[in-house]
Amino acid sequence: MITKNRIENYVFDDQTHKALFKLSSNKIFDSIDFPIASGKEAITFYGHLQDTPLVAKIYKMETSNFKNLGQYIDGDYRFKNASKEKRDLFLVWANKEFKNLTLALKNGVSCPIVIGKEKNIIIMSFIGEGEKAYPKLNEVDFDLDVVYPQIIDNYARLLYGAKLVHADFSAFNILINPNDQKITIIDMGQAVVWSHPKAKEFLKRDIINIVNFLKKKFKKLEITNDFFLEDLKKKKEEIYGRDNKS
Ligand SMILES: Nc1ncnc2c1ncn2[C@@H]1O[C@H](COP(=O)(O)OP(=O)(O)O)[C@@H](O)[C@H]1O
Ligand SMILES: [Mg+2]
Repeated sequence: MITKNRIENYVFDDQTHKALFKLSSNKIFDSIDFPIASGKEAITFYGHLQDTPLVAKIYKMETSNFKNLGQYIDGDYRFKNASKEKRDLFLVWANKEFKNLTLALKNGVSCPIVIGKEKNIIIMSFIGEGEKAYPKLNEVDFDLDVVYPQIIDNYARLLYGAKLVHADFSAFNILINPNDQKITIIDMGQAVVWSHPKAKEFLKRDIINIVNFLKKKFKKLEITNDFFLEDLKKKKEEIYGRDNKS
C-alpha cells in the first residue's frame, strides 16, 4: 500500500509516527506526499486522504524555539493548565492552532478547514491548485480594490467574531488564489484571545505589519494604522451591528 510507504519515507520520531498512523487508521489522512514548507516550529506537508489533497502541519518536537513561544500561551486562559516544559509545548501549540482555526472558521474567516488533530499534527484543507499551494500575498501582484476589503473583512471577523488577535499577521500568512484573488488567512498557532495581556500589543503589531506591506507595494496608497483600525471598526458595525459593544 502506497500510504504506509509514503509516511515511512520520512524520518519521524516515534510519537509523530504513531500519531500519523492513528490519523490514517481513523481515515482522516492517509498519505504524506512531500513537504511544502519547513518553518521554525513546524513542517507543512502536502498529502491525501484517498483522492482529496490535504495539508498536515507537523509541529517539531525537537526544537528550542518553543522557549520563546511561551508568551503566546501564558495569559491565554484556555491553556492555563498547560505544562511549561518544552517537551509539551509543541502539543499545546498544535492544540492552540487547531482551536484557533476552528473558532476562526466558525466566525466566517476565510482560512483552511481544520479536519483533524492528533498529538503534534493538524490536518487541514489544501489551499492551492493541483499540487501547488497558492502564492503568498508578497509573491504576486494583486488588485488592491479586490484584496483590501477582504483583509478588512477577515480580520474584523477574526477580531470581533472569534475574538482573537492573529499575532503573526503579514503578507506571508495570507495566501491568494491567482484566478479570483480570493485570500485565505493561515498560520494561527500564535493567535491569542482578547483577554491575553499582550493582545493589544500584538494587534498593533499586526496592523503595522500589513499596513507597511501595503504602503510599500502601493506607493500612492494613503493609509495609516489608524485608518486600518477605523476600517476594522466600520466593518464590525456592518457585520455585527451598532449595538455590539465589544
Ligand atoms: N492549508 C494550506 N494549504 C496550502 N498551503 C499551506 C497551507 N498551510 C500552510 N501552507 C503553506 O505552508 C507554509 C507554512 O505554513 P504556516 O502555517 O505559515 O507555517 P509556519 O509557522 O511555518 O509559517 C505557508 O507559507 C504555505 O505556503
Ligand atoms: Mg507562516
